[in-house]
Amino acid sequence: MGKILVTGGAGYIGSHVVKRLGEAGYSPITFDNLSSGHAWAVLYGDLLCGDVKNADDLRKVFANNTIDAVLHFAAHIVVPESVENPLKYYFNNVLGSLTLLSVMKEYHVNKFIFSSTAAVYGTPTVLPVSEEAPLCPINPYGQGKAMVEQVLRDLSAAEDFKYVALRYFNVAGADVQARIGEGKKDATHLITQALRTAAGMNPTLYIYGTDYPTPDGTCIRDYIHVDDLAGAHLKALEYLLHGGESDTINCGYGQGYSVLEVVKTVKKVTGIDFDIQVTGKRPGDPAELVADAAKIKKKLNWQPKYNNLGFIIDTAWKWEKDRLKGR
Ligand SMILES: NC(=O)c1ccc[n+]([C@@H]2O[C@H](COP(=O)([O-])OP(=O)(O)OC[C@H]3O[C@@H](n4cnc5c(N)ncnc54)[C@H](O)[C@@H]3O)[C@@H](O)[C@H]2O)c1
Repeated sequence: MGKILVTGGAGYIGSHVVKRLGEAGYSPITFDNLSSGHAWAVLYGDLLCGDVKNADDLRKVFANNTIDAVLHFAAHIVVPESVENPLKYYFNNVLGSLTLLSVMKEYHVNKFIFSSTAAVYGTPTVLPVSEEAPLCPINPYGQGKAMVEQVLRDLSAAEDFKYVALRYFNVAGADVQARIGEGKKDATHLITQALRTAAGMNPTLYIYGTDYPTPDGTCIRDYIHVDDLAGAHLKALEYLLHGGESDTINCGYGQGYSVLEVVKTVKKVTGIDFDIQVTGKRPGDPAELVADAAKIKKKLNWQPKYNNLGFIIDTAWKWEKDRLKGR
């Protein structure tokens, strides 16, 4: 059996997938430039430092290892930053993907799992949103992911190349044993921000808009535990290794929680009350984004283990507390 190359394997989601690959008996190799990832997060296999935009960095990895499949997480991920600095995002996320796909072709590696995002749907008109919904990304981050998806469809139609594009909804939580978790100091996601406010690292938690057409006026999102998402990657990998056809699949639970429900649960789990402040809506934030999760269950036979908001927040809280102790 060859190795599984994981680009961005030192990052938040990639490191949980590397852990699951190692636990399942695969041999992962992490390839990461550590721009937002951490060497400590790689629990299994080698960490090779390099940039996915640099074909020579990649060639060294493919020349020295037999690679069965590539899981591609390496990307920049901050939506507002992509609006301010689109070239940074198109270079890293689109050019990086094209460079990687070209080098894979040179070395005849033809199985690929891509980290896509619910941001490709923009503001969906039908909820829950299925994979068949039109792609209408409303920021350069989502646009770049949609571009790479198009490249994958074209490549798969033209050549002996098989991929699974996984469209993640809101990824949250941490390793159940609190060995790894979100490591970015400037992480922007709601649950991390709320926990860091509870821990006293932020004076207040900002809530962006309370007049959305939802029951309590705040945005509704589908939160998926990072280990369940890692499990989905294992399923997608097995699917491709057993000859599965190319496909695009949502990764979510199909259940939404409002911002205020998340805040209430964070206060309950931590036992800490903290200040919240309502501020203006962020441009391009859809009122509701919840996955139609039928396909992942049927096609990949994926069953989530941690579909419980309190549990998700509890794992993230244990991790954040450990980090505060100086990890
Ligand atoms: N976090 C989420 O909620 C979410 C939702 C949807 C999609 N995604 C996608 O999942 C993937 C992983 O996200 P994450 O939250 O783990 O982010 P992250 O920033 O923690 O991880 C990204 C990793 O990629 C590395 N990297 C970035 N550019 C690189 C380059 N040019 N060459 C080599 N390595 C590079 C970083 O150092 C980091 O380790 C991304 O592709 C992201 O778009 C994330």
